[in-house]
Amino acid sequence: MPLVTSSEMFRKAYEGGYAIGAFNVNNMEIIQGIVNAAKQLRAPLILQVSAGARKYANQTYLVKLVEAALIDSDLPIVLHLDHGDSFELCKDCIDNGFSSVMIDASHLPFEENTALTRRVVDYAHSRDPAVVVEAELGRLEGVEDDIRVSAKDASYTDPGQVEEFVTRTGCDSLAIAIGTSHGAYKFKPGQKPELRFDILEEVARRLPGFPIVLHGASSVLPQYVETINQYGGSMPDATGIPESMLRKAASMAVCKINIDTDLRMAMTASIRQYMSLNPSHFDPRQYLGPARQAIEELVNHKIVNVLGCAGKA
Ligand code: G3H
Ligand code: 13P
Ligand code: ZN
Repeated sequence: MPLVTSSEMFRKAYEGGYAIGAFNVNNMEIIQGIVNAAKQLRAPLILQVSAGARKYANQTYLVKLVEAALIDSDLPIVLHLDHGDSFELCKDCIDNGFSSVMIDASHLPFEENTALTRRVVDYAHSRDPAVVVEAELGRLEGVEDDIRVSAKDASYTDPGQVEEFVTRTGCDSLAIAIGTSHGAYKFKPGQKPELRFDILEEVARRLPGFPIVLHGASSVLPQYVETINQYGGSMPDATGIPESMLRKAASMAVCKINIDTDLRMAMTASIRQYMSLNPSHFDPRQYLGPARQAIEELVNHKIVNVLGCAGKA
């Protein structure tokens, strides 16, 4: 099956009250772990590539690995640019086989965000086949591509702006800020995790049927924190979004849930444990094999317990 866009996936997810997992990919083992889980559960998939992943792996290698995933599975798969920060970057991905891009101009004033998003949408939609565009309103706290957004610069999405933004830009999905954040330290020690479901509800009321995206949606599962800390790592006070909140969001207008930190932690926990227990091993396949398996188990868990998209491929 060729790459697909997310249009049909999101329409079904919205109607069915579930969400599609958008997993960040950086190398072969990560892609294989994710695809193996999705194959077993017949789950639709979004594989997303950040600017940092392009820099690390070389975009061509990642595109070819995703093409291999299409051959290896008969799943509907979207290849998506995560957090594109310029027209040129989005255009490069569109021209080189991505079926979906995100233009993240959420740090710019409203008019500039609207203008840049519109420019990317015009280009993406004019392709044959058309490429879809995710945009963002509101700003998440945390680290992306080595840029830290502080709590004071983060801001919730203003529901009063969403209709005008979506109408004027023509974007296909909208990422909003309701209290999630990137990375492994989402809430301060002792802070009660909270998401602004009232904002999500109001956005959904103003944009009926329109797919909403949640970034910064890793749960930072305790078993990975414990294993990392047990085997020589140090992740003090790591916290994530409770899975019950993500399930609730998925049952509402949220059709795409972004997960990267949980993949990183599953892989790191596995490698730390393996290295510690097998100090004389030096064949990368010996520790990357279990790391790939750890990714598969994590994605299986997400599909079944958080996203609800098993059997929807
Ligand atoms: O939102 C950011 C993703 O976790 C990607 O992270 O830019 O370090 O590849 P990265
Ligand atoms: P996490 O850091 O919570 O995994 O968020 C990933 C993300 O939003 C990628 O765009
Ligand atoms: Zn993100």
